[in-house]
Amino acid sequence: MPSHLEETKIFLLTIKKRPIIVNQTIASIEEYKKKNISKESLVKQLRTCLAQISEFKLLGVYPPIDQSNPYNLLGNLILGFERESSHVEQAKIDTREVRIENLTKRNSGKYVPYILESEEIFSEDLRTNAEKIGEMLKSSKPVLKVAFFGQEFVGYALGFCPSEEYIRGLWLEHKSYNPNLIYLETVVIVDKFQGRGLGKFLFGVFIEGAKQAGYKILEGHFRKEGSGSYHIFKKFGATDLKVYIDWFGSKEEYVYCRLDLTRV
Ligand SMILES: CC(C)(COP(=O)(O)OP(=O)(O)OC[C@H]1O[C@@H](n2cnc3c(N)ncnc32)[C@H](O)[C@@H]1OP(=O)(O)O)[C@@H](O)C(=O)NCCC(=O)NCCS
Repeated sequence: MPSHLEETKIFLLTIKKRPIIVNQTIASIEEYKKKNISKESLVKQLRTCLAQISEFKLLGVYPPIDQSNPYNLLGNLILGFERESSHVEQAKIDTREVRIENLTKRNSGKYVPYILESEEIFSEDLRTNAEKIGEMLKSSKPVLKVAFFGQEFVGYALGFCPSEEYIRGLWLEHKSYNPNLIYLETVVIVDKFQGRGLGKFLFGVFIEGAKQAGYKILEGHFRKEGSGSYHIFKKFGATDLKVYIDWFGSKEEYVYCRLDLTRV
């Protein structure tokens, strides 16, 4: 079996229960290989596995599926599964109906509680807490975007120019204060609105906001596996600068990325 199969993982997003993201490998090819299970049996087991996840929405597959490769059993099964299952399809939202507001000191009392609640999907050490939001609000050129669909809170993208002290706290030893650099502290689309094109839209809004504020570089840390934000940021043209194997004790791989805003 080709080695890339061994790395195939499926990322699932629960629609019903928290925690919002289940980063779960539902089938490890390596395990099957060790047990010396036949190809037919493997296909059968994977089908059963996929059929059992009707309460989940299939969010993505890493590494990307090579559709043309007939050996990519798992990938091709998933593609078949996606075609067969109507529940994985979610209507894209017309972004013209999304209202964007800047988070300010004035409206923070209204919006910060939504943000703090949404941040609960991250482990405590990784959360953007009230103190951090306060710091960002006080900073000189923050870009703090909050999104709504009708009356509903959709998500947010918060960034600011990090101080020397903040940079040290992020273990960015190689960096120093740069007034042209904006750091994307957090970006979230709430559970209900995920997978409908709004993350990409919000990134675009944030990037435009950062450019208008005069920033030349956008940097941030992104969860590597199962992370839509890493995928989206790369699509905008971001490059990887450094990989952190265990980001703040999360046991997850995070990548520090940079986007040259003068080229977007
Ligand atoms: C990450 C997040 C902001 C993405 O927003 P979203 O509205 O779900 O994403 P979109 O529907 O706009 O998808 C945009 C693209 O990302 C891809 N994508 C979304 N989630 C993905 C995932 N988990 N893995 C790989 N790709 C993913 C989509 O397929 C789409 O790709 P395409 O443009 O090539 O078609 C949102 O899922 C979220 O808030 N997640 C929880 C919080 C989080 O992880 N924040 C980032 C911390 S690093």
